[in-house]
Amino acid sequence: EGFLPFEHEPYFAFGDAAVAQQQRDAYRRVREQYVGQSFPMILNGERVNGAETFEVRNPADTREVVWRFPKATPAQLEQAIEGARAAFDEWRFSEPFQRASIFKRAAELMRRRRMEFNAVMGLENGKNWAEADGEIAECVDHFEVFAREALRWGQGKPVYPMPDEHVTMVYEPIGVVAVISPWNFPAAIPLGMALGAIAAGNTVVWKPASETPLSSLLLVELLFEAGLPRGVIQFITGTDDVLGDPLVDHKDIRMIAFTGSKEIGCRIMERAAKVQPGQRWLKRVMAEMGGKDPTVVCADADLDAAAAGIVQAAFGYAGQKCSACSRVIAEDSVYDELLERVVQLAKDLKVGSPEDNAVLGPVIHEGSAQRIMGYIERGQQSARLVLGGGRAGCGDREGGYVQPTIFADVDPKDPLFQEEIFGPVLAFTRATDWHHAIELANDSEYGLTAAFYSRDPRKIDEARRRIQVGNLYINRKCTGALSGTHAFGGYGMSGTNAKVGGPDYLFWFLQTKTIAQKY
Ligand code: SER
Repeated sequence: EGFLPFEHEPYFAFGDAAVAQQQRDAYRRVREQYVGQSFPMILNGERVNGAETFEVRNPADTREVVWRFPKATPAQLEQAIEGARAAFDEWRFSEPFQRASIFKRAAELMRRRRMEFNAVMGLENGKNWAEADGEIAECVDHFEVFAREALRWGQGKPVYPMPDEHVTMVYEPIGVVAVISPWNFPAAIPLGMALGAIAAGNTVVWKPASETPLSSLLLVELLFEAGLPRGVIQFITGTDDVLGDPLVDHKDIRMIAFTGSKEIGCRIMERAAKVQPGQRWLKRVMAEMGGKDPTVVCADADLDAAAAGIVQAAFGYAGQKCSACSRVIAEDSVYDELLERVVQLAKDLKVGSPEDNAVLGPVIHEGSAQRIMGYIERGQQSARLVLGGGRAGCGDREGGYVQPTIFADVDPKDPLFQEEIFGPVLAFTRATDWHHAIELANDSEYGLTAAFYSRDPRKIDEARRRIQVGNLYINRKCTGALSGTHAFGGYGMSGTNAKVGGPDYLFWFLQTKTIAQKY
């Protein structure tokens, strides 16, 4: 049953007035039901409130507190880890088929609530309808894909036979996995990591980003509704002083699955290497970090397709994706024309509120807007500003609105070319020819995604071989990996290359047992 044909969840057609109205209605219901409330953590299946709470604000207007979540205490972190440890004793022996059935039910439950999940995410992290929809559809895909992966890995793998022994190789779970996740994909990213852990038979301590806890809580509750035993996920919210290092350092944590910044990823890697008193394993770390993703455009490329792909990948969700296009490297002979086309498209992007489905919304918060503006201000000393370059307004709303910004003639040594900005800022760099363009694409410590536009099979062949990234897209944009199809994860400082949604992902959460038996 688990291997029935698979189809990616189709997106909503918001261009249809009736569908758009459903999304508006979902926003209205989410506002009625959820805004202003305090939500709990879930420890051992119990909804737990905290003595202290923190506020979640709407990035579209940061004066609005949308909801509150508890600040966990160190004792509650202990309780969460102990709960996950105890639950592991049983869940490790659960049948892969049981896990798959829960995921299949969760997929069904989620399909009915996609509009609601979109609206919750929009209010937490400022994604517009289509961006939220892409992510929530990816969650449905994750449930379907991990159901199949649980069954597939449950079968073990064949080994070379020998005449007088019966030998099998099976995969077993490893223990308690800490899932630490970012605000930019608060549903699909933690869900991918958590389902990887659970599909393999592990248990989870899930710490969502404090900007976006409700998108995560609703998923955890949905999994319980689908039949997941309550101890298997411990959902804990709060601040990094209590839930950051202490979670990573804890002796009972077997693995840390992290997605976020390079700085934190490196910190986790380093801390997890230390064996704590009483710890009985070497911790595993999955760290998926940033990107400085290039789009290479060759002289023979379809420039309209390239320009459209670049604008979507650079400015979708205001560039706040590790997969976002942040560098364009074009061959000399088409550089000016491509730049012109990209500027034409980008200058028409409407800045506005994600709740009204504006194409370009706010960045996550004021601190982020200021950091981005710092790059823009320094960039004006070193490169040619051709679009944007300032803060944008959005009526009387207060939020981190930044204009879509394009710099031309960026030197490869410039921070605009080398550093992850995580905002709507795009750097154009001229290449003497397509070989040079590939070289420049690789001139980065990161290696997450890249797009390559050309119609020449020889150039495409060379790009396939030489471009050093985990996800290379030919003649299409570099964002929007689909679960099950575009196994996602990078090279170099983009992280551990775990490839979520891919056929090898579960191996990260498993250990291998060889059993040789004589009769
Ligand atoms: N998976 C997302 C994308 O491909 C990024 O996390 O855009």
